[in-house]
Amino acid sequence: MSILVAGGTGYIGSHTCVELIEAGHDVVIADNLSNSKEVVIDKIKHITGLSEDTPRIKFYEADIRDGAALDEIFEKEAIDVVINFAGKKAVGESVECPLDYYENNVGGAVELAKAMARHGVKNIIFSSTATVYGEPDVIPVTEETPIKKIFHPYGQTKAMIEQILQDQYAADPEWNVVLLRYFNPIGAHESGLIGEDPKGIPNNLVPYIAQVAVGKREFLGVFGDDYETYDGTGVRDYIHVVDLAKGHVAALKKLLPKSGVSIYNLGTGKGSSVMDVLRAYEGACGKEIPYRIMPRRAGDIAIYYCDASKALRELGWKAEKTLEDMCADSWKWQSMNPDGYGDV
Ligand code: NAD
Ligand code: WQD
Repeated sequence: MSILVAGGTGYIGSHTCVELIEAGHDVVIADNLSNSKEVVIDKIKHITGLSEDTPRIKFYEADIRDGAALDEIFEKEAIDVVINFAGKKAVGESVECPLDYYENNVGGAVELAKAMARHGVKNIIFSSTATVYGEPDVIPVTEETPIKKIFHPYGQTKAMIEQILQDQYAADPEWNVVLLRYFNPIGAHESGLIGEDPKGIPNNLVPYIAQVAVGKREFLGVFGDDYETYDGTGVRDYIHVVDLAKGHVAALKKLLPKSGVSIYNLGTGKGSSVMDVLRAYEGACGKEIPYRIMPRRAGDIAIYYCDASKALRELGWKAEKTLEDMCADSWKWQSMNPDGYGDV
């Protein structure tokens, strides 16, 4: 199949392109490079053994809010399926600049869906997030867990886009929509050639630990050790980004005619605490990682992990990699590329 990967040079998108190509699909990437670098395309070719001038991966520097740019892509390329990774994702920034988030994420998703409709492409996989569950009453979270109050504009944009795509299916049942709710993606490709390259101070745990391990930051701040968890620190469902990427390849199965709307949690189904991750990372990098206990971060909840059995039942997918694998691959990427993709 030919897959339009919006946001395909980003962290999860790049890993998914690798898995799609390795599964025999062709990819057309549309990305405005607002949070990624074009050099990623060369890395994807290198990992997948494709030649420099291969037609199996194409890149368009395009913004998904730009309908004319999207029309050009759909006219030139015979697209079967769209995967939409394109979006802004920093929770704190979304509280400070909500309009940018609604405009980019929701506005972009609407323009992309409109372009799909204009060109008769009716299959979409959308990157959603566990954040849509808000603070759930029961753990583990299943796909039936009610959507609760979401505390930030970023999460709201994801819930809105889920609703918009469901409404579009209701209006035109020829659409097939897969909503993938990711838990906490971490790690990197085992080659060490692609990985997460955050701008500025990392917001998330593992990129921050990685920068302490490589000597770019002094210590990790552990946000609270008085939660009702087994060691007092927050518990999350960390998933290796390559397992997550493979989940998208598996989800293509759900884009058969008349599949309708399908929703899947993509996680391991296992919770790990901040201290578990810290210790696993120390094992991976072979050094002690300094940390200090800090106050709780506003908006954090104690425990979050999923029931991923629906994805296994219906897609035949489950996460295979351990927390140790995730930390080892994150460290390989970070130590081989201390400045990420650099200034190229
Ligand atoms: P990322 O920032 O690395 O990738 C997003 C890509 O989209 C970037 O390459 C960026 O340049 C591009 N982009 C943003 N706005 C665009 C626009 N208007 N037009 C074209 N391209 C645009 O982020 P990621 O971690 O790879 O996340 C991918 C998707 O998964 C996002 O939608 C994110 O909300 C979602 N998600 C991420 C996580 C996570 O923890 N990383 C968890 C759950 C869901
Ligand atoms: C994990 C744990 C922190 C940083 C976020 C988004 C969510 C989704 C995934 C996109 C928590 C603790 C963190 C640090 C720490 N993204 N922590 N020190 O908050 O579970 O989820 O990313 O959709 O929407 O909210 O991930 O990595 O920020 O935090 O102690 O410097 O690590 O308190 O317990 P989170 P995270």
